[in-house]
Parts: sequence; C-alpha cells; structure tokens
Amino acid sequence: MKIGMLTSGGDCPGLNAVMRAFAKYVCSHIEDVKIIGFLNGYTGLIEREYEILEEKDFENLLLAGGTMLGSKRQPFKQMTVSDGNNRSKLDKMKETYEKLGLDCLITLGGAGTHKTAALLASEGCKVIGLPKTIDNDIWGTDVTFGFSSAMEIATECIDRMHSTAASHGRIMLVEVMGNKVGWLTLYAGIAGGANMILIPEIPYDENAVIAFLEKRRREGARYSIVAIAEGAVSVEESKLKRKEMAALRAARGEGTATERLARAIEEKTGVETRTQVIGYLQRGGSPNPYDRAICTLMGGYAGELAEKKKFGVTVSMAGGKVTYNSLADIAGKTKSVPPTHQMVKAAKAVGIGFGEPENKKE
Ligand code: F6P
Repeated sequence: MKIGMLTSGGDCPGLNAVMRAFAKYVCSHIEDVKIIGFLNGYTGLIEREYEILEEKDFENLLLAGGTMLGSKRQPFKQMTVSDGNNRSKLDKMKETYEKLGLDCLITLGGAGTHKTAALLASEGCKVIGLPKTIDNDIWGTDVTFGFSSAMEIATECIDRMHSTAASHGRIMLVEVMGNKVGWLTLYAGIAGGANMILIPEIPYDENAVIAFLEKRRREGARYSIVAIAEGAVSVEESKLKRKEMAALRAARGEGTATERLARAIEEKTGVETRTQVIGYLQRGGSPNPYDRAICTLMGGYAGELAEKKKFGVTVSMAGGKVTYNSLADIAGKTKSVPPTHQMVKAAKAVGIGFGEPENKKE
C-alpha cells in the first residue's frame, strides 16, 4: 500500500506522535507499505516535494514538538483558482496523487485542512483526516489533539500572573490563542483561576467588564486576572462583518481587542492594567501526557482505517471512544463554544465574569 502523509495549517504538540502511531500500526499490520511524506502541508502535494519515509524515521517521535514534515497554510479559497494555465492547486494535487500511485492520503490538520481533504475526497482521492488544533474547534469530535497541551501551557502562564498581579495590585489581561473560538481561553481561564473570561462567542460589553472589575476591588480584591481570547470582540464589533471589523481595527492600529480594552480599564478604574500575550508558546514543545495518549490512540486508529480501506473520513473522539466522521459531514463546520455550555455555567457558578451586558446575563 502506498500512503501519502502531510501535516497542514498551524502546528501543535502531538503531530509527530500521531504520525509515529500511524506508521507503527501500518508497518506492522499491512504488507508492503510505503509512506511518502509531503513537505510543508498541501504545498508538498501541489509542488510534488516529498520524502520517502521508512519505519525507522518514525522512531523517537512521541515527545517531539512541531512536525517533522513541516507545515504551511494553503488557504482553501485558492484551491480551485486557476494559475493562469488552466490548472488549479486542486488539479496539481490530484496529479501528484495519481502520478505517485497513492492508495491513500493521510492529512493531519485543522478546519481548513479538513475542507481541502473533503474536496480531495470528493474528487476521488482516498483520504483519512486526523483532527489537530490547539483551538479544539473541529466539528464532530469531543477533542482535538494539541488542545490539552496548549491548555496546560496557557494555564501555567495564567497561574504565574497571580503572584505578580498581587504584588503590584494590578489588573492583568492574558491573551490566549483562539481567533474564532474560545475553548482554550475558557478551559485555561477556569484552570488558571482567572476572574474574568472573554471569548469570541460571548461578546463583551466594556462597561460591564469595568463594572465587574470595580466591584471586585470594592469587595477587597487586590488584583484581577482576565483571560481574553485573541478573537474576543465587543458587542459593537460583533455586529460588524469580519472584514469590516478587521478594517476598523487596522485603521486604529490594533490587532486584537486586548490592548484597547486594557487602556479603557486603566483609564476608567484608575488601576494599573497590563497585558500579556502568550502567543506561540502555546503551540511549541512536547505534547503533554494526555495528548501523547490520544495521539497514540488516534494515529493507530487511522492506521486501522487505512487497513480496512475506510476512506473519506476523519478520526474523532466521541464519549471517550475513538471513532470517525465522514469528511463531507464535518468540512466547513466550526465547533464553537455554546454560550450556555456547561463549562460556561460552571465558570459562572464560581463567580467568573464573562463581560456580558446586563440584559444578556443568564
Ligand atoms: O492553530 C490555530 C491558531 O493557533 C489560532 O488560534 C491562531 O489565530 C492561529 O493559529 C495563528 O497561527 P499562524 O500565525 O501560524 O497563522
């Protein structure tokens, strides 16, 4: 069996561990296996840049961060656009698939990667996806690999804010990754003991944020920690289209809402307010023990799917068990945090604020 493999989109801890588990499974269960590793995501498939991998290449990968194949973003929107010679990236990928005589293609990636994987599958390529992302936003799976490791890192960063915030009696805004969804901010915020959590799914009201922080101070709190997702939006911004909001922020010289909100808080409360962007630290380094375990489970299971010739699917976790979903069913959907999610309710029950306007509060 000739198997192509690639890692696409933003990296995360666990990509190597999944590839290791997959390779170990197929090498021991399927006869005459050849694995072709495409370099830098779909770019390798488009440009026909690859390496022939042997079983020994998958040794010592359980703990290794990043991806040994390299990764790159290849926007889905451009996959079917002609390059001027009547050939699109999709055509080129199909050509590579056919020319190399692949029996299947294993794609490790997030939401965008899955959209392209579904497109390739609809064009006749035999694809098996694997759900990677620290954002945990892939539809149809309880959890994605990388999420738990990133949560651990973000939690440690928030933990460390407490002592410095307390020393100076400050308000600290800690920006957590998550451009479209707030799973990471929600979980790390709760785990790190944040007093307030701001996520894209629950637009915040600046006055409500400030009132909450002032009330805490009046009641004797010396400092406050706000976990804010990079994609957090104000109520006003939530009424705009994404492009309009990006243009508005660009005109103000802002990337995210964090800095602006911090300035408003400091101005109105008179309390020194600082920001900390955790950024790529959340994506770097070794997977944590939980991710090492589910990477081994998911990678091995993808091997089993290849053995059974079950294609056009992506691996998922449901109720603690590994299973699969059809790529066509999940592509293009986003698993956002429902504002009434039980974890949001649990956070509210311990007094965490979400910056909701009075009329929106449950
Ligand atoms: O992997 C998802 C993610 O971490 C998002 O939360 C973030 O917005 C994005 O990647 C940024 O990644 P990059 O700068 O590598 O495109």
